Amino acid sequence: MLKAAMQYCYATRMETTPRSFIREILKVTEKPEMISFAGGLPNPDLFPVEELAEIARDVIGGEGKKALQYSTTEGHPPLREWIAARYKKYYHMDVSPEDILITNGSQQSLDLVGKVFINQGSPVAIERPGYLGAIQAFSLYEPRFHAVPLGAAGPDIPTLTGIMKKQRPVFFYGIPNSQNPSGVTWSQESRREVAEIAADTQTILVEDDAYGEIRFNGVHLPPLRSFLPDQVVMTGSFSKIIAPGLRMGWICAPREIREQFVTVKQGTDLHSNILSQHIIARFLSEFPVDVHIRRITETYHRQCSCMIQAIQDSFPKCVACNRPDGGMFLWAEMPEGCSSMKLFERAVARDVAILPGVPFYTDGGGLNSMRLNFSNQPEDRIREGIRRLGEELHLYLEDPDHGG
Ligand SMILES: Cc1ncc(COP(=O)(O)O)c(C=O)c1O
Repeated sequence: MLKAAMQYCYATRMETTPRSFIREILKVTEKPEMISFAGGLPNPDLFPVEELAEIARDVIGGEGKKALQYSTTEGHPPLREWIAARYKKYYHMDVSPEDILITNGSQQSLDLVGKVFINQGSPVAIERPGYLGAIQAFSLYEPRFHAVPLGAAGPDIPTLTGIMKKQRPVFFYGIPNSQNPSGVTWSQESRREVAEIAADTQTILVEDDAYGEIRFNGVHLPPLRSFLPDQVVMTGSFSKIIAPGLRMGWICAPREIREQFVTVKQGTDLHSNILSQHIIARFLSEFPVDVHIRRITETYHRQCSCMIQAIQDSFPKCVACNRPDGGMFLWAEMPEGCSSMKLFERAVARDVAILPGVPFYTDGGGLNSMRLNFSNQPEDRIREGIRRLGEELHLYLEDPDHGG
């Protein structure tokens, strides 16, 4: 007998987890002629391809039996040592290699944070706009999000204070350096204030530092962890300073929390890709990584400046754009009532893609905003893409029906 149409019985969490809007959009932008500012890809010309090829051959040839074997959950000791030493050198933080857990990219770090801290309905505070990958990772654990508006210098302090008092979130997740999506860097004052507010509470601060090294203006500011070492879980990544395909990141956390992360990571994947860990550790010890990072930041600085100049030349003056100090994105806002979804459709018809701001808002809103990525297009294409986008913006803003 034929079976009736199969009905798959998914877990309820699948109803609350947004599909990655970015992946859906990237499908539209795959055509080679498309000038895409929509994705979040680093500049592939800066991947140290030859160096990694040489090291990979050496690692497999020389240490293959170790580098291809199962390994420890905590991670490859030389890599943990490098990360701890870097925190000491650049951020003057007292971090030991034991404080570091190596993960398969900082996206996994966020998933582990969700697993360890979120119950169904747990209050979680997050920047508004917030990083979409974090919204997705946390949503799987069905929290209640409380959005903290992000201004030009950091999170809105009165809102954060109110949420801390009334909602008592299990954690506040933020990206103090060159935030994704907005490009905002929190000021030193803002970091101090956030740490002070958290200090009197049971709320953990989850500090995502994916872009800390990619700073092209100003000086490195103290991480939240330097104010509250026992209350901050910090995440880092090799994706932006070496290559994202290696899928390698880390968590730096107080001992008790770290042990919880180790337990859940064992259940998730036993350990992070040990071959990648060996390759990265060798790269870091054999090549001048600061020179490499300087090349990345200088290139992104040029790409960012090129985009800002092109925007000044061609966008209507009522479209507000910021001037990031680092990272890979800048943020633009049209007047209230405009729709970046509509602009997206018009731009795609001209072979230019932007990322509408809507999915970055956990409480709705943001329709007039968009994220523009500058790291993944050469300067001539940035100029051409922004010129076309400027033309579409002028046409769209002149259209009396634009807010409909
Ligand atoms: C703020 C932020 N956190 C985490 C990630 C994930 O990075 P990874 O490649 O280390 O998983 C990204 C990726 O773009 C990001 O922008």
